[in-house]
Amino acid sequence: VIDIAKLYAQTGMFTYDPGFTSTASCESQITYIDGDKGVLLYRGYPIEQLAEHGDFLETCYLLLEGELPTAAQKADFDYRITRHTMVHEQMARFFQGFRRDAHPMAVMVASIGAMSAFYHDSTDISDPHQRMIASMRMIAKVPTLAAMAYKYTIGQPFVYPLNSLDYTSNFLRMCFAVPAEEYKVNPVLSRALDRIFILHADHEQNASTSTVRLAGSSGANPFACIAAGTACLWGPAHGGANEAALKMLEEIGSVDNIPKYIAKAKDKNDPFRLMGFGHRVYKNYDPRAKIMQKTTHEVLNELGIKDDPLLDVAVELERIALSDEYFIEKKLYPNIDFYSGITLKAMGFPTSMFTVLFAVARTVGWIAQWKEMIEDPSQKIGRPRQLYTGSAQRDYPPIGRR
Ligand code: ACO
Repeated sequence: VIDIAKLYAQTGMFTYDPGFTSTASCESQITYIDGDKGVLLYRGYPIEQLAEHGDFLETCYLLLEGELPTAAQKADFDYRITRHTMVHEQMARFFQGFRRDAHPMAVMVASIGAMSAFYHDSTDISDPHQRMIASMRMIAKVPTLAAMAYKYTIGQPFVYPLNSLDYTSNFLRMCFAVPAEEYKVNPVLSRALDRIFILHADHEQNASTSTVRLAGSSGANPFACIAAGTACLWGPAHGGANEAALKMLEEIGSVDNIPKYIAKAKDKNDPFRLMGFGHRVYKNYDPRAKIMQKTTHEVLNELGIKDDPLLDVAVELERIALSDEYFIEKKLYPNIDFYSGITLKAMGFPTSMFTVLFAVARTVGWIAQWKEMIEDPSQKIGRPRQLYTGSAQRDYPPIGRR
């Protein structure tokens, strides 16, 4: 590792690294990835163990505080999050300004940003208590906003949080309960979604997290920073990939069409990529993809979905791609998004909600990273350099001579 900042101070030399493929932008103690071995650790704990034995709120505590909570700490944390799940009634009215067919991610970007207007008593980043309250508010309220975004775009009334339920069951109820009809949360689906949230909770300096850190480095308030991260997550190369992966599986339609799409993905003149394949850091199987695949089977079993044509296409596509020279040579493996779309669809979520669910889970990772940065006394404003390739200095010509 070369300390470029020191080198720059001594020699004026800086690096050119578009896409930050080999530049660390910060030090962090939160998440570790070994992309060659396919390892992912949150605060040192393997993702497989957390997904198998833990729950999402416990993971939130771990990411924020650095250690797993004791039973008393967990009960206190769960209680505090639960108490913050309601959003101010004015925020519900704020929703009425959106077009009814707005994409729920557009609503999320705007409503999370708007939290800084509704909860401006927790925007002073120099006050540790306000920072903590803002963090709690976001972890607790983002799922409520996500469910509201969904309900709004399908024209149903909002369902208020029921705080006797656990975090994920409460979220499922806010999304799927309908007035005057009894709604019972399916514990298998709730556990599966909780696990999906754990898998998405943090992933070190990905594009959206880097966006949060860059926004936060200027001293912007945490709601604004998380809104910036949400906007970045929306893109199909990042959080939008699960939506794109499902659309691709639907487009492929049947196992017979797979070779045609593999050929398209390999064709340099065709912009098509196999969505849900490849990763900037993992050059091996994404460990989250394996857990996701297992979760997909559990959910489909629970729902009694025996023959899902999309799952057939996914399994076969994975099999063919993993034995194809192009994918082997470029180390392209399925990532977490490859199977998550099938699972979320089976649970009843429309594709437009997939990235929203990702945002719900990643909110804690963004906050933990933001908090780590703000608490670091050596923190500086993020200010990348550039290689200028434009015109040399020239004189302004009058308009008639151009
Ligand atoms: N299908 C076909 N070819 C691919 C794919 C793919 N999915 N991904 C990468 N490649 C090829 C590229 O064409 C490139 O080939 P080349 O060396 O001949 O030019 C090579 O593999 C390397 O690809 P890059 O784009 O340089 O790799 P990068 O690290 O920049 O991109 C990314 C990673 C964006 C994830 C890419 O693999 C991709 O677009 N995948 C599909 C979208 C996706 O699934 N995104 C989810 C990421 S995970 C997440 O956000 C949770």
